Amino acid sequence: MDSITDQAPDIAPWRPYLLASLQGTKDIPESRYFQLASVDITGAPQCRTLVFRELHQDNEIIVISDTRTEKFTEFASNPRGQICWYFAHTREQYRFDVTAQVTTFVDNELWLTEHWSRLSDAGKKQFLWGSPGTKRHDLNPLESLEPDNVVPSHFCVISLSVSKVDYLNLRGNPQNRIVFEKQSDGSWCSLEIIP
Ligand SMILES: Cc1cc2nc3c(=O)[nH]c(=O)nc-3n(C[C@H](O)[C@H](O)[C@H](O)COP(=O)(O)O)c2cc1C
Repeated sequence: MDSITDQAPDIAPWRPYLLASLQGTKDIPESRYFQLASVDITGAPQCRTLVFRELHQDNEIIVISDTRTEKFTEFASNPRGQICWYFAHTREQYRFDVTAQVTTFVDNELWLTEHWSRLSDAGKKQFLWGSPGTKRHDLNPLESLEPDNVVPSHFCVISLSVSKVDYLNLRGNPQNRIVFEKQSDGSWCSLEIIP
């Protein structure tokens, strides 16, 4: 289940927009998919689709992943990334500038166990059928190589801390675009710009 925590009084000004987008599309599973770009050691952008899991109070977007994937290596050398998230139903695009932090079971047993236990059997299987990106030797169905009641050491949570948001809403005439930027003192400024 996705979870959204929103209790502090001094919330970032873009949060109500994202919470409204999530609420307005809560029955559309595809609205939880976004693209996350990282930068590899050659400086080339690398982009992939991920599933939104949680929005934390401290403006971290939470996803789950596998430390054996390229994004892990890329974020280890450059933690900066960008999320591009389009809500087709509400016609809103968000581009989040983020900094990634990876947490594994040894860092936080409770949190990782919580995320692992929320996965369906099929979801867990994807972490247990061999190392992503390695050669597949035959086309037989992939089998789980380990029991699914133990959190694998390569299972990870990635916290994507947001520092800037470029929000574009295609509804309305004219369209609306707002840039929200975090300041060095932690406060946020927002600016309406021409789309
Ligand atoms: C709809 C969809 C959802 C996905 N969700 C995730 C996810 O939540 N976490 C993840 O690590 N990979 C997810 N993937 C797979 C990634 O897009 C990507 O193929 C994989 O993480 C390896 O990427 P990398 O080698 O660039 O790190 C998803 C793919 C699709 C098509």
